[in-house]
Amino acid sequence: MTSCSQNTRTIVITGGAGFIGSHVVRRFVHRYPHYRIINLDKLTYAGNLENLKDVEKEPNYQFVRGDICELDMLRNLFEKEKVDGVIHLAAESHVDRSIRDPFVFAQTNVLGTLSLLQAAREYWGNNEGPCERRFHHVSTDEVYGALGMGDEAFCETTRYNPHSPYSASKASSDHFVRAYHDTYGLPTVITNCSNNYGPYQFPEKLIPLCIHNICEGLPIPIYGKGENIRDWLHVEDHAAAIDEVFHRGKDGESYNIGGINEWKNIDVVRLLIRYVDECLGRPVGTSDNLITFIKDRAGHDLRYAIDAEKLRLELGWSPVHTFETGLRETVQWYLSHDEWVQHVTSGSYESYYASMYGNS
Ligand code: NAD
Ligand code: TYD
Repeated sequence: MTSCSQNTRTIVITGGAGFIGSHVVRRFVHRYPHYRIINLDKLTYAGNLENLKDVEKEPNYQFVRGDICELDMLRNLFEKEKVDGVIHLAAESHVDRSIRDPFVFAQTNVLGTLSLLQAAREYWGNNEGPCERRFHHVSTDEVYGALGMGDEAFCETTRYNPHSPYSASKASSDHFVRAYHDTYGLPTVITNCSNNYGPYQFPEKLIPLCIHNICEGLPIPIYGKGENIRDWLHVEDHAAAIDEVFHRGKDGESYNIGGINEWKNIDVVRLLIRYVDECLGRPVGTSDNLITFIKDRAGHDLRYAIDAEKLRLELGWSPVHTFETGLRETVQWYLSHDEWVQHVTSGSYESYYASMYGNS
């Protein structure tokens, strides 16, 4: 794939209006001005074109509103735009929502991925392209299940053992990606990443939810005793890893991406309380009483931890953001983007979309 990075190519990034997708779109639009970047997004509650205001006028960027479950639309898009590459992030992504409504997770994450694979297989099978093709599927460490406290971190050969409807749907989509590689020879790569944080994350996930509630003086809901452990990675480090794997990863392989940065939830929340209170000039400990322990999440995975040695050794990637600095900057970003937070919590970004693109 290295030679291709010098040539013009057309890449569809699905879910580009979401949290991680918007960082991947921004990175690719700026770093590869000779690529055409098409952001294909349905704009669910989690998709927000305000995340991409700074790139929407770039000549190599285009937005297409569409649902990855619609195979005919995908076939037309591949034909019309002569798509060479896919970076697939579109998904339903929140575990709590998957517990309430698992069906939409199977629909988007499994059938949507299958439809994209099929569209790529048909178009690439029938048309020679100017450069190599690649289907990069962006997945999660949650497919591996949960670790005990003393267990070794997940590596690429760890057995899949998903517990939530979200992780079951992502595991299923990973299996379809492998099946399309092994059965039809589709040039695929998969990345499995740990929990991300950073700007533009929808405030239903732990870190932006906490920042929002601390600012507003609202209770911070913590499942169980807050003892669960996540391995946090800055979203820009994730986007950089996707860039490496998309261009230089080996066909048919999967790569783990993680921060070597395990934190108990309660400790993350305490850090956030300190940073937000400091930023707002409040006395130390002002928001400590907002911590509210609630009934544990059903099937709550105890611990995730990623072994990203394969990615480091093969492609030389390692994270550049430290957690403390990255978290402080994230807090500052949310505090200085009050309008964005107001819009996503009120849903008014839908009218921003309507004013930009009409209501198709
Ligand atoms: P997100 O929920 O912020 O964004 C998802 C995007 O997909 C939205 O823009 C939404 O409009 C779009 N979308 C949803 N259904 C669609 C459909 N049917 N057709 C087209 N677009 C659709 O998600 P995120 O947190 O940015 O995660 C992106 C990807 O990365 C997901 O595949 C997720 O599983 C994976 N991932 C996320 C994390 C994390 O910590 N957030 C960690 C590892 C992997
Ligand atoms: P989340 O951000 O939803 O990501 P994931 O479930 O994909 O890891 O949650 C991160 C951790 O924080 C997880 O252990 C659940 C916990 N959590 C809470 O304790 N309270 C909350 O309100 C949320 C959203 C999460």
